[in-house]
Amino acid sequence: MIVTKPPMGWNSWNTFGENISEELLMETADAMVSTGLKDAGYEYVVIDDCWALRERDASGKMVADPAKFPHGMKYLADYIHSKGLKFGMYSCAGVETCAGYPGSFNHEFVDAQMFADFGVDFLKYDFCNKPAHAHGPMLYNKMGMALRATGRDILYSACNWGSDDVWTWIRSTGAHMYRSTGDIGDNFGLIKDIALSQIPKQGFNGPNCFNDPDMLVVGMYNQGNVGWGGCDDQEYMLHFSLWCMMSAPLMIGCDIRNMTEFTKNTLTHKGLLAINQDPAVRQCIPVSGRKGDTLILFKHLEDGDYAIGIYNFTDKIQQLDFFLYDLGLGVETGYGLEMENLVSGDKILVDGQFKMPVGSHRCGTYRAKLVKL
Ligand code: GLA
Repeated sequence: MIVTKPPMGWNSWNTFGENISEELLMETADAMVSTGLKDAGYEYVVIDDCWALRERDASGKMVADPAKFPHGMKYLADYIHSKGLKFGMYSCAGVETCAGYPGSFNHEFVDAQMFADFGVDFLKYDFCNKPAHAHGPMLYNKMGMALRATGRDILYSACNWGSDDVWTWIRSTGAHMYRSTGDIGDNFGLIKDIALSQIPKQGFNGPNCFNDPDMLVVGMYNQGNVGWGGCDDQEYMLHFSLWCMMSAPLMIGCDIRNMTEFTKNTLTHKGLLAINQDPAVRQCIPVSGRKGDTLILFKHLEDGDYAIGIYNFTDKIQQLDFFLYDLGLGVETGYGLEMENLVSGDKILVDGQFKMPVGSHRCGTYRAKLVKL
């Protein structure tokens, strides 16, 4: 299975934690279609931790909690598939998941077959409660092989939070995406810390094995399982813009059955999604170093355009600027950039130096074209 663009979907963890059910998942699949998220490209509906009973059955199989999933997982998978969507589930490389449910350690091949029999299209594979003697890279390789042994196309989403320099070996385990950071929360400081920690890792992001800086908190507004303070709309916009510039997987974490218009418009923004889903999957790089807690990112797009993101993480308005010289467009080249702000639609011609006041916790995302001056 080849995954050419950053995967897009929804995951239950950020908002619902252990409060998951068949009803929630079915309503979420319905909402994925009725809100236009599916048309925008979101396709995976993923159940995270807490779906199973605490113990395996007498034959050693995991059992879906009948109180949460009365008709079982195959029924849910069929429903999600009937909506033209894909179904994801969760397990863990250790003996127990992070929330204390059965993990797949030493059950990898049996569990992978069970997921395939359910009709699973995506498996998130966590890293809690691993026996000390078991080597992380071996465990991820083992599940990678177990998933392939089923013969079903299952997107393999590794989640070891960046342990063991995961970016240096994870591609070889068959994983299609991999978490490289600790858990995100609905909090601007965490978004900032995760994003800045990922900039040096961008060279390890590419088709078929995407660097995953964790799920989106856009639209959570301090509700739910990881609602740790909450953000305002423009902070969510900054978060989404960064994940788009980083070609990160876009796994929505809010309750999509009850989104605000702003949340829906952010998550389905055509111009931003085009940057995230750009087929070239070029890494973004910071321009002219970082000045304090501000960031300017630049990347090449497949059609010859460029994407530029400017970010102010500080508590004050800042004048953000860069010289075109730093991109290789010195005056001797005779070229400048025409930059279109993807949210406002405003266009500016940049000749020599870009300068823009950006409010506290605000961003600008641009699509730029090279122009002869
Ligand atoms: C870990 C993962 C989270 C989530 C929880 C579930 O913390 O990093 O994304 O899956 O486990 O318990």
